[in-house]
Amino acid sequence: MARAAAAKGVPFLHISTDYVFDGTGDQPFVPGHATGPLGAYGRSKLKGEVGVRAAGGPHLILRTSWVVSAHGANFVKTMLRLGGERESLNVVADQIGGPTPAAAIADALLTAAKAMTHGANGGTHHFAGSPDTSWADFARAIMAEAGLSCQIRDIPSSDYPTPARRPLNSRLDCSALDIAFGIRRPDWHVGLRDIVQELRA
Ligand SMILES: NC(=O)c1ccc[n+]([C@@H]2O[C@H](COP(=O)([O-])OP(=O)(O)OC[C@H]3O[C@@H](n4cnc5c(N)ncnc54)[C@H](OP(=O)(O)O)[C@@H]3O)[C@@H](O)[C@H]2O)c1
Repeated sequence: MARAAAAKGVPFLHISTDYVFDGTGDQPFVPGHATGPLGAYGRSKLKGEVGVRAAGGPHLILRTSWVVSAHGANFVKTMLRLGGERESLNVVADQIGGPTPAAAIADALLTAAKAMTHGANGGTHHFAGSPDTSWADFARAIMAEAGLSCQIRDIPSSDYPTPARRPLNSRLDCSALDIAFGIRRPDWHVGLRDIVQELRA
């Protein structure tokens, strides 16, 4: 697809992920930071990025994280379901990142696409909701927004083993996207409220 777009000079938008990084440290990753995926998903996404760049056309690679929405399966919907069924939940508290409403990603991509159609440069950028938080604190915010009394207990990732290793640090430095396109990090509290309202409706 990137090669076909390049052949026609059409800007190509590619959604990528914080999983291209190794998740070490506690500082936000800038777009130029060395990549080091921990698993097959991150490796395949990184290959996608490499392929898009190699196609040689105008492109925007937008790395995002912790995508949430009223649609599809995602953390917000899982928490709302479990929060309605249980009195308490154990949620990992040592993975930190920016929950990102899918609608905000769509808005950002539209803004960037319009600018690129008028000649703006693309490149590799980061876009994540603000402020950075842990899954556990995000779960608490979800319960509060939905009026659920389910208690969230902090646990370390080591107590929640998954087949694939997940990065502890998913913080993304999104300042380059603001400078290039005037696109700011969206406040995920607003997006969360919209998602809960959409699900209620
Ligand atoms: N979820 C996250 O937290 C997260 C974080 C960072 C980046 N991302 C990136 O965001 C993008 C979307 O992720 P997601 O979590 O929303 O994934 P998802 O829920 O699995 O949705 C993927 C979508 O792609 C469609 N699709 C898959 N293979 C396709 C194919 N061969 N041809 C056409 N359509 C195809 C699927 O169609 P069907 O519905 O018909 O299967 C589905 O609508 C991915 O690039 C992912 O790497 C996601």
